Amino acid sequence: MTRLARRALLAVAALAAAALPAAAQPFPSRTLTVIVPFAAGGPTDTVTRLVAEAMGRELGQTIVVENAGGAGGTIGAQRVANAKPDGYTLLLHHIGMATTPTLYRRLAYDPVGGFETIGLVTEVPMTLVAKKDFPANTLAEAVAVIRRDQEKLNYANAGIGAASHLCGLLLMKAVDAPMTTVPFRGTGPAMQELLTGRIDLMCDQTTSTTEQIKSGAIKVFATTTPERAAALPEVPTSTEAGLPEFQVTVWHGLYAPKGTPAEVTGRLSKALQVALADPKLIARFAKLGTAPVAAAMATPEAHRKFWLADIAKWKPIIQGAGQYAD
Ligand code: MLT
Repeated sequence: MTRLARRALLAVAALAAAALPAAAQPFPSRTLTVIVPFAAGGPTDTVTRLVAEAMGRELGQTIVVENAGGAGGTIGAQRVANAKPDGYTLLLHHIGMATTPTLYRRLAYDPVGGFETIGLVTEVPMTLVAKKDFPANTLAEAVAVIRRDQEKLNYANAGIGAASHLCGLLLMKAVDAPMTTVPFRGTGPAMQELLTGRIDLMCDQTTSTTEQIKSGAIKVFATTTPERAAALPEVPTSTEAGLPEFQVTVWHGLYAPKGTPAEVTGRLSKALQVALADPKLIARFAKLGTAPVAAAMATPEAHRKFWLADIAKWKPIIQGAGQYAD
């Protein structure tokens, strides 16, 4: 075949491919967007950027990370619930997807029925941390200060529905003393206020606190998981430190709008599993005190089963605390 003929053939093939309706092009055929429902620089943002980079490599497309913080994550979640169900707009959220259905009774979107699941991503311990000059060095001493000073203390969270909100709810219930809650669009900005000492206490994920704790910029009293955090072996668990009921592990999961085709969520789930097996991502997660879930949990079915069970787990606890957002 002459070079000219070959060129003509390739041009025709390219034209034909371009003329193919988008639906016929294999997914994905263009850039994707993943919404993080919290501010940049926080733990969910950190996890999402690492996963988006690795998944993008596997999918052969760029995945843009967009932060839509506020209202405990419900603003970003609503964005995705209302997005076109074509797989190009995704949500990376966390345990807040299990507490929001009970905490909010009048949302403008369906916090469960509005989403397809793609797969779980990771599970992260939380740490109870305080400003550098907080007048306590152990969990027992911190509890005594909380019981003595109560609302004089500023406790930061990322709004009702956030992991830091749930952790605060469990802490204040366990010590039976209220504090003044100061909401932020994410724990990224809240951490800045803790570092300056304008905030007294906060509960945040090891993906955000590990480096600050190791540098001595903030104090830590306990982790909220049954086992010590791998990145913080010197920090006692809440059980070891005398507050066994103060337990929470923050899981993260990837979602798409309701109606996204199963072959698309299946393709995304496959890419997620490849990303979570990536040695570079695993090493980054380990430095941040977390690890990917097992591949079997990074599927739409396993994610949905886990999510629905977690909604049922937190419902009576939230109702018992009587803390509703509306
Ligand atoms: C964040 O990324 O800011 C956090 O996940 C917020 C939270 O849920 O506490």
